[in-house]
Amino acid sequence: MKLDETKSSKLALPPSSMQWWRDAKFGMFLHWGLYSILGRGEWAMWNERIPMREYRKLANQFNPQKFDPRAWAETARAAGMKYMVLTAKHHDGFCLFDSQVSDFTSAKSAARRDLVGEYVQACREAGLGVGLYYSPLDWRYPGFFFPDLYRESAEEMKQQTYDQVRELLSNYGKIDVFWFDGGEDDWLGFGGIEFVDGQWRSRDTRWPQQKHYPGKPFWEGDKLVAMMRSLQPDVVINNRSGWTGDFITPERKVGEFNTQRAWETCDCLADSWGYIPNSRMRSLRNILHLLIQVITGDGNLLLNVGPTADGEIEPRQVDRLAQVGRWLQEYGHTLYGTRGGPFETQPWGGFTHKGNRIYAHIIDWPEDTITIPAMPQRVLRVRSLTSNEVILEKPNGELKLRVPDADRQAIDTIIELELDAEL
Ligand code: GLC
Repeated sequence: MKLDETKSSKLALPPSSMQWWRDAKFGMFLHWGLYSILGRGEWAMWNERIPMREYRKLANQFNPQKFDPRAWAETARAAGMKYMVLTAKHHDGFCLFDSQVSDFTSAKSAARRDLVGEYVQACREAGLGVGLYYSPLDWRYPGFFFPDLYRESAEEMKQQTYDQVRELLSNYGKIDVFWFDGGEDDWLGFGGIEFVDGQWRSRDTRWPQQKHYPGKPFWEGDKLVAMMRSLQPDVVINNRSGWTGDFITPERKVGEFNTQRAWETCDCLADSWGYIPNSRMRSLRNILHLLIQVITGDGNLLLNVGPTADGEIEPRQVDRLAQVGRWLQEYGHTLYGTRGGPFETQPWGGFTHKGNRIYAHIIDWPEDTITIPAMPQRVLRVRSLTSNEVILEKPNGELKLRVPDADRQAIDTIIELELDAEL
């Protein structure tokens, strides 16, 4: 079965429905679940080969007394984030919602709560976009590891995905972002995967030559997304379900400059997605550089925090995010609601633009001057938003900018160009 491109692009959202997400630029990712109790990251069950009968006992301990999604939303809002994405179910199969098709849920844990429901409400109250992460794959099913051998199990796992995605899009009002992970066909349709020498590889030695040969189970991303559109026509969906996606998801790296295809980098504030105590945390400068590099490349940034088992985002992380928000309060107008470019990413930073203004974001000075490539519009005015002086040079008609050493900002020197016409 080949991905039907016509059908896929019919499923894609029109630009008008993506506009809020394009403008938003910055979101909060939350990895939270039973693994947060172990504090060794969200892959602990897999990495340590914890038997299911042991792992599932964690549900009896899962009773997050400090779970306060309003506080999460407030942290996100104060950071200048505009949407949130919470792991409704990760690869361990544990649901943070009251699924009718599973016994492994927060409603049936010690917590006895539908945490997704509370989270959705808090996001909405804070005026943030509501996003859910969902992993179709599920380590509890032998069919994930050996889909040929345990075909029934693989089919059940697939059915669970369809049922739970339907629940998530039916029971919680409007969902703005749906973020799949692990639903690409090579996680299931090619005989399962294994981790060898630090790399994922298919168990099927003939892959990819025999890609999409008959008789194997697939997630059928197109079918899944068609169902989702019938429930929630405007939900923005990523590319990890086997369907092409409204946006693509470079992970733990800055995506390439691309103004054609919507993209979102996902990365972590600390060392891992799921909670690990005392892990390294990014500096303010590092976070802002990441954000600026992503936005000037025309992407969004989904920055992850992993709350503790008790449901709290570490106070030091809350503080760090508040610092990000303070910087954005001053300079966010050069990022939100802009588009990346018009010129590609440069060794020193990059550009954003809005209306008849271009903003050069200079985060490094490998050379003394910044060259503005030629464009049809005329530059009426050049000014710095962060320093005192901009020195202009025009050798052979090319526009070059220079900022005195002492005025160069450690985080971002922002130069605004006002043009005689819109871009
Ligand atoms: C990787 C990790 C997974 C995490 C995801 C987020 O795929 O393995 O645990 O949820 O990144 O993008």
